Amino acid sequence: MTDQRPRVLAIANQKGGVGKTTTAINLGTALAAIDERVLIVDLDPQGNASTGLGIDHKSRKRSTYDVLTGQATFAATAMETAVPRLHIAPSTLDLSGLELEIANERDRAYRLRNALASLTRPARNATGKIVGDGYSYALVDCPPSLNLLTINAMAAADAILVPLQCEFFALEGLSQLLKTVEQVKTNLNPGLTIHGVVLTMYDVRNNLSDQVVADVRQFLGDKVYDTIIPRNVRVSEAPSYGKPVLLYDFKCVGSQAYLKLASEIVQRERALAAA
Ligand SMILES: Nc1ncnc2c1ncn2[C@@H]1O[C@H](COP(=O)(O)OP(=O)(O)O)[C@@H](O)[C@H]1O
Ligand SMILES: [Mg+2]
Repeated sequence: MTDQRPRVLAIANQKGGVGKTTTAINLGTALAAIDERVLIVDLDPQGNASTGLGIDHKSRKRSTYDVLTGQATFAATAMETAVPRLHIAPSTLDLSGLELEIANERDRAYRLRNALASLTRPARNATGKIVGDGYSYALVDCPPSLNLLTINAMAAADAILVPLQCEFFALEGLSQLLKTVEQVKTNLNPGLTIHGVVLTMYDVRNNLSDQVVADVRQFLGDKVYDTIIPRNVRVSEAPSYGKPVLLYDFKCVGSQAYLKLASEIVQRERALAAA
């Protein structure tokens, strides 16, 4: 089927610094590495996903602000990255004013959904290998807030991917996030699901980490991916070189964890498609 839009995953958590952007960049890269075609949608006015993929401010001719205000399509906005099959629609600071600008518009929560409707999934040959243009996944990097931008992401998404930092307060704030997901389901997007929760910045040297993992698994059950992303200095260094960690240091534990997460996600997707 080529007429379907890409699978849209919103990477959301209103807490800052939990690994949303890092996951968008590196999960996107890992999915592209296993032959998927991926569009990262930078929906954070800070533009960290764009910067982390080496897109400097000057080269952002069009942005997600232009897309959400109807001045540009995703096709015209998406830029290539150093990773084959990985594109990004960059963001600029204008995006921070969007909420006020469109507050009274009837379609304000559906701007992203409507813009994504023009994208298609690539064709696959008989062995399942991608042969055409388009995107098999769109990953939306959300801002650290439950504002209208995040609501747009949730209203547009097939499913939500929640990064949770392995720290004592990991579950704090999660109930507010889940409540928002329920509200979006009721009012805007009945098909929305939680794809999974990924534990990030796991620290082997910290005894608390294992307790946090156990608590989160007890609370969220099989919604938690098997893959845990370790705290790894290579992961945090890579963005300052404008590179995903998989290009910066393919062999490091952080890169390998994101590859594992990508294959786990593709497996969940296959199970869903077969069900
Ligand atoms: N696995 C990791 N190991 C080490 N540092 C990480 C890891 N994941 C994220 N970081 C660092 O933590 C900080 C916050 O991550 P980021 O992805 O920007 O969070 P968010 O987008 O949720 O605000 C960044 O400096 C990032 O480099
Ligand atoms: Mg971020």
